[in-house]
Amino acid sequence: MCYIKDLYKYEGEEVTIKGWVYNRRSSGKIVFLLIRDGTGIVQVVVSQGKVSEDVFGLCDTIPYESSVIITGRAYKDERAPGGYELSFENIVVVSFAEDYPISLKEHGIEFLMERRHLWLRSRKPLAVMRIRSTCIKAICDFFDSKGFVRLDAPLLTPSACESTTTLFEVPYFDTKAYLSQSGQLYMEAGCMALGRVYCFGPSFRAEKSKTRRHLTEFWQVEPEVAYATLEDVMKLAEGLVEYIVASVLDKNSLELEILERDTKLLKKIKNPFGSITYTEAVNLVDMDWGGDFGAPEETKLSNMFEKPILVTGYPHEIKAFYMKRNPQDDRIALNFDMLAPEGYGEIIGGGQREDDLAKLEERIDEYNLPRKHYEWYLDLRRYGTCPHAGFGLGLERTVAWICGVHHVRETIPFPRTIDRIYP
Ligand code: 4AD
Ligand code: MG
Repeated sequence: MCYIKDLYKYEGEEVTIKGWVYNRRSSGKIVFLLIRDGTGIVQVVVSQGKVSEDVFGLCDTIPYESSVIITGRAYKDERAPGGYELSFENIVVVSFAEDYPISLKEHGIEFLMERRHLWLRSRKPLAVMRIRSTCIKAICDFFDSKGFVRLDAPLLTPSACESTTTLFEVPYFDTKAYLSQSGQLYMEAGCMALGRVYCFGPSFRAEKSKTRRHLTEFWQVEPEVAYATLEDVMKLAEGLVEYIVASVLDKNSLELEILERDTKLLKKIKNPFGSITYTEAVNLVDMDWGGDFGAPEETKLSNMFEKPILVTGYPHEIKAFYMKRNPQDDRIALNFDMLAPEGYGEIIGGGQREDDLAKLEERIDEYNLPRKHYEWYLDLRRYGTCPHAGFGLGLERTVAWICGVHHVRETIPFPRTIDRIYP
């Protein structure tokens, strides 16, 4: 057996591929079968007269997405998408498919999302999933090569990390638990043990937001570094994003082409990216000081720059309780968001953490958080506290930007949003 992507190794030889009928067309005496196997698509040429009438008839009528094992001879054809075709020799039908609901014609997004389990087989979703996979590997390679230790954070938690208004509650024996919004607090414990750590897994937000940037379940990578400052992790974030983009450009040119992604700007993603303060950003989009950027402002801001832009020093009121405040200006946090260009908006949020016990205790009260759930977190300030910083990068938003797809729901295999939990 041979995978379609490896056909070039078997020029002139007889090969067997196992896959599905992606498409089929006929010109009377010749049937062209497009077979996909997950690694690629190959055209199989079946000529009347060279095979029995029964077999020819079978190839001419086999339903889309039937599973088949095909034997044929590989030959080079410049015009073929992968550069190779198969001249047909034999077919074994593993299963005749029923009438396939997805055709090559345009379907509405709701129709496709309802059939996501099948739609994943199509060319564009496949290209996005391959790019997602490249991004995941690039993220791990980046941190592993820098000496970070991957440390898994729990998904069932007793309390909020980001905001109590977006927690999913689940019954937990005699009590309640919450699905994790972020592994950060646990990574803070981790970095005090291992120096540099990262977690990479799902995060949950019971967001009522219906924007193209919001999922209720998304993947986040969260590095945390002991003795690091805001500036240190801003540099780390730039390095990470540069590396992810370079990896995709290097490994996924075919997929970017399938997605018709204009890569002109992606090729310019080189360090340093540049940064502006929140105050400067507010002036750029004609907003009052103090509020968070809404979706339109975020889009506007992100369209003003060719590379990702780092926005620093947000008002602490609109940020989480754990943020350290700027010693020169107590109104603002030592934080940053990274906004991707081309209208994609925030892909990273992070900053320096409050490392002073008394101040952190004050914040926990100010934010009305139940103190007893945070005692372990306060312990990190009781036993060897030190400056530390980190950030979280949202995988789906990053993939959406790199792929140039409009909505994050297309960048995760099975999206969960406010109005979708099926399939
Ligand atoms: O800005 P956020 O909420 O930051 C945190 O959770 C920090 N605890 C991270 C840290 O410092 N360790 O989320 C981080 C990133 C966002 O920039 C965004 O890319 C993504 O996670 N994100 C979402 N992606 C999809 N759907 C949502 N509802 C998201 N919420 C956040
Ligand atoms: Mg954020």
